Amino acid sequence: MVVYVGMKDADRFEALVALCKRRGFIFPGSDLYGGLAGTFDYGPIGVLMKRALENAWWDFFVTYRDDMYGIEAATISSQKVWEASGHVTGFTDPLVEDIKTKKQYRADHLIEDAGFSAVGLTPLEMSALIKEKGIRSPDGNELGEAKTFNLLFPVYMGATKESSALAYLRGELAQGMFTNYKNIIDTLHPKLPFGIAQIGRAYRNEIAPRDFTFRSREFHLMEFEYFFDPRLNDWSERFEYWRKEMYSWLSYIGVDTKKCVEIEKQGPDLAHYSKRTIDIEYVFPFGQKELYGLAYRTDYDLKEHEKHSGVSQAYVDDQTGEKFIPHVLEPTFGIDRTILAILSDAYREEEVDGEVRALLSLSPRIAPFQVAVLPLSKKSELTLPAKELAMKLRKVARVQYDETQSIGKRYRRQDEIGTPYCVTFDFETLEDAAVTVRDRDSMKQERVKIDELESYLKEKFR
Ligand code: GAP
Repeated sequence: MVVYVGMKDADRFEALVALCKRRGFIFPGSDLYGGLAGTFDYGPIGVLMKRALENAWWDFFVTYRDDMYGIEAATISSQKVWEASGHVTGFTDPLVEDIKTKKQYRADHLIEDAGFSAVGLTPLEMSALIKEKGIRSPDGNELGEAKTFNLLFPVYMGATKESSALAYLRGELAQGMFTNYKNIIDTLHPKLPFGIAQIGRAYRNEIAPRDFTFRSREFHLMEFEYFFDPRLNDWSERFEYWRKEMYSWLSYIGVDTKKCVEIEKQGPDLAHYSKRTIDIEYVFPFGQKELYGLAYRTDYDLKEHEKHSGVSQAYVDDQTGEKFIPHVLEPTFGIDRTILAILSDAYREEEVDGEVRALLSLSPRIAPFQVAVLPLSKKSELTLPAKELAMKLRKVARVQYDETQSIGKRYRRQDEIGTPYCVTFDFETLEDAAVTVRDRDSMKQERVKIDELESYLKEKFR
C-alpha cells in the first residue's frame, strides 16, 4: 500500500538538498576546503540531468527550427563590451551592512523578509524605509545606509596587475550574441527574423547568495536574442509568441506550469535596456521567485555597440537597399533554477508497506538515467547478458547498469535519482527472452520481450 507522506515545504527542501549531495547531483563548490559561497559543482548524476536539459532546450529552440544560429562565446570579455551594454554603471543591487558585524545583505531582501515591499524603490528610499520600520539585520543589529553595488566580476588579464588590462567575466550571455551579430550577418547572411542562441555560464558577484543554487555567483543560462524588422512586425505579437513558446517548453520538460506566476517589471525594476519585461516566477519551496524572463530589448544593445565600437550594426534590406537596426526579443532561461524547480517539484516521500521510499518523479526527457538494467543475481550467467543488454540500450537511452546489493535496495536507489524504468534480468529471462520492466511512479511491473524492449521504451520516452 502507498501512502503519501505529507511534509512541510522547508523539510522537503532540506531533504532534497541532502539527497542532492548523497546521490551525486550537486555538491558545494570547493567542498574539500569548507566551501566557497555561491558556487556549486554538479556531480556525476547532476551533470547527466543538466546535459539532458541543455540538449532538450537546444533541440526545442535551435535544432527543431530553421531560424536559429547557435554560438558559444568566450566567458571573459573586454571591458568595452560591458561599458557599451551599460552594465559597468547600471548592473547593480542595493547593499546594506550590519554596522556591528559588517556582514553584507541585499537591502531589498531584508525589507521583503520583514514583510514590506521593496518593489520600485531606490537605495535612498530603501534606507528611509529601513529606518522608518526599524528593520534590523538577521543578527538583530542596526543597518547602515543602502548603496548600489556592481555585480560584474572584474578580471585582470596579463602578467602583472599593473601591466594588465581590465576585463570582465560575463554577467549575462546576451552580450555574446550582440557582439557576434555582425559576424553572423557577414558570414551566414541570415534573413530576418532570426535568433542567436547560446548555453553557458554567467558570473555575478551576488551580495548574498542563498536558497541553495537559486542565487549563485557562477551559474548557467540558456538564452537567445531574436532579431526582427521593426518596420514589418508588431513587437507585441512576437512577444506573445515567445511567451507561449516558453510555456510549451516548461510543459515539455515536465514543469508544473500551474506553479508559474507572471510578473510585469516596472519602474526601477525594469532593466535599463528593456521596454517591456515579464518574469515567469515559480513557487519554490522557499517562496515565489524568478525562474525565467522575457524582455523586449528594442534596438538598445545594437545601437550602443554601434556607438561605442564605431562599427555599423545596420541590416541591409536586400529588396530596397534600406539600412536599419533590427529590434530584439530575448527569452532567458536559468538552468540551475530550472533544475531546482523540477527537483523540488519531483521530490516526494511515500510510505510503502511500512517503509518510507523517497523518489524523484522526473520526466524521462531530463531524468539522469532513463533506464536501469539490474540482473537479479551476481552470477555470470545473468550478469554477462544483462551487461550486453545495457550496452545495446545505451544506443537509445541513458542507461545505468547495477548489480550491487539486493534488488529492493537497487530499486530504491533508482527511485531516488529519478530513473523512470528499471529492467530486471532474471533466471526466467534465460528461458523466455523477456525482462521485467518496473515503472518508478506506480511500481507496477510488466514482462516485455527483449526484442520489443527498444520500441517499448521509445514509446514511453515520447
Ligand atoms: N540577458 C538577460 C538576463 O541575464 P536576468 O533576469 O538578469 O536576465 C536571466 O537573468 C536568468 O538567469 C534569470 O531568469 C534566472 O533564471 C537566472 N539567474 C539570474 N541570476 C542568477 C543567480 N545569481 N543564480 C542563478 N541563476 C540566476
